[in-house]
Amino acid sequence: MGQKGREIVGPDVGDIIARLNEAIAAEALAAYRYLYLSKWMEGLETVEIAEVFGRLAGEEWSHMDRLMDRVGRPLARPSEWESQSYVKYYEPPKNPRDLKPMLKDSLAVERVAIEFYRDLVQKTEGKDAVTYSLAMELLADEVKDEEFLESLLEGWD
Ligand SMILES: [Fe+2]
Ligand SMILES: [Fe+2]
Repeated sequence: MGQKGREIVGPDVGDIIARLNEAIAAEALAAYRYLYLSKWMEGLETVEIAEVFGRLAGEEWSHMDRLMDRVGRPLARPSEWESQSYVKYYEPPKNPRDLKPMLKDSLAVERVAIEFYRDLVQKTEGKDAVTYSLAMELLADEVKDEEFLESLLEGWD
């Protein structure tokens, strides 16, 4: 964010930048986790899901890209991603054939993301149009991810 860009956001700018940095850390972890799981999972029935997780990894990575563009100078260091993220990192299950916890934990992550972006939309409405519209778009993506993972879980067992 440049000088005028910060000025028009007003006194909340520091707080909004802090939230954006939390989101950068969370999206980086989410991207890494989906990609990791796509390689980690084993078994014939996981082939399609591995593909989906690979695609989701790309989507979360592009969220991080857009958040970084908004911040300008991201603060989060990789070693701090876990502590800065708005959601915890869910370790993969011990058994790479155990798909259900992978789906359930992913759903939990998406639901926290939905709450986070909903809050960011509310926080920036009428104050920071650029972050507001970004948060709306990311919120829509996470809502879609939740719905998709829910439908996958329904068909499981
Ligand atoms: Fe995301
Ligand atoms: Fe997502």
